[in-house]
Amino acid sequence: MKALLDSLKPGENDWDLAQSIDPDRLPSHVAIIMDGNGRWARRRSLPRVAGHKAGIESVRATVETCARMGVQILTLYAFSVENWKRPRSEVDTLWRLLHIYVRKELPTLMENDIRMRAIGRLEALPPQVRHDLESTERITAHNRGMLVNLAINYGGRAELVDAVNALLEKARSSGRPSDFRVDEADISSHLYTAGMADPDLLIRTSGELRISNFLLWQIAYAELYVTPTLWPDFRRADLLQAVLEYQKRERRFGGLNLPRPAPDRHLMEAVAFPMK
Ligand code: IPE
Ligand code: IPE
Ligand code: MG
Repeated sequence: MKALLDSLKPGENDWDLAQSIDPDRLPSHVAIIMDGNGRWARRRSLPRVAGHKAGIESVRATVETCARMGVQILTLYAFSVENWKRPRSEVDTLWRLLHIYVRKELPTLMENDIRMRAIGRLEALPPQVRHDLESTERITAHNRGMLVNLAINYGGRAELVDAVNALLEKARSSGRPSDFRVDEADISSHLYTAGMADPDLLIRTSGELRISNFLLWQIAYAELYVTPTLWPDFRRADLLQAVLEYQKRERRFGGLNLPRPAPDRHLMEAVAFPMK
């Protein structure tokens, strides 16, 4: 949080917002469904791809703000397994924009000690995009700051299917008995996000109240925040608002957040001298 506050001057835009965030209760992992690019363009009578292009600036601002705030993991939904249903020209433009973004952002990622990973069924991506992603992943692998996961050709159900198949394959190749069983830890450790904490905060832009096949397993207890802001308009202030809202929530994880009662003397005595 200090880096964010240091980057702002008192009285500047977002200064008050940033001041009101509790640095001790930041979400460690923020996930974002970046939605609304097409509607942003349509409102300006522009082609849909103009919205995708404009959305890149929002990605840049969000990565920067999260890194400065001290978020540890940022997972961005960039392309779903269902997005192949869109016209070929739109999909091709998305690959071209991704190629440009990844190459252009590399120096900024390095300067800010940010690690980038791609998650999803990457084998189906155009070879050039795959190559870009793999080289960015390799070059940033030793950075120790924030981790950015780019979810590309990602589907929550596909991820679960891949995890189950990986587990079956492991069982087969290690000669485990055919009646072997798996537990939650086995599944978690075979997802694309193996080893990462689950998202604390899931943001969706553009007002849609759905998950669209994103991180189905990992968001079991994430706090959901939906804003009507379209992705290309999403900036630092929107992110800070989402974090502020997150900090107002009471997370119970199925338990009860009861205020801790003062020790009860009679109960303590009963425990110390159990009744026969
Ligand atoms: C999100 O914006 C970007 C991708 C899914 C790639 P959309 O393209 O879905 O924009 P809308 O929802 O049509 O406005
Ligand atoms: C979800 O947005 C996928 C991404 C943001 C990459 P969509 O626009 O594809 O979702 P639906 O179709 O409105 O559910
Ligand atoms: Mg959409």
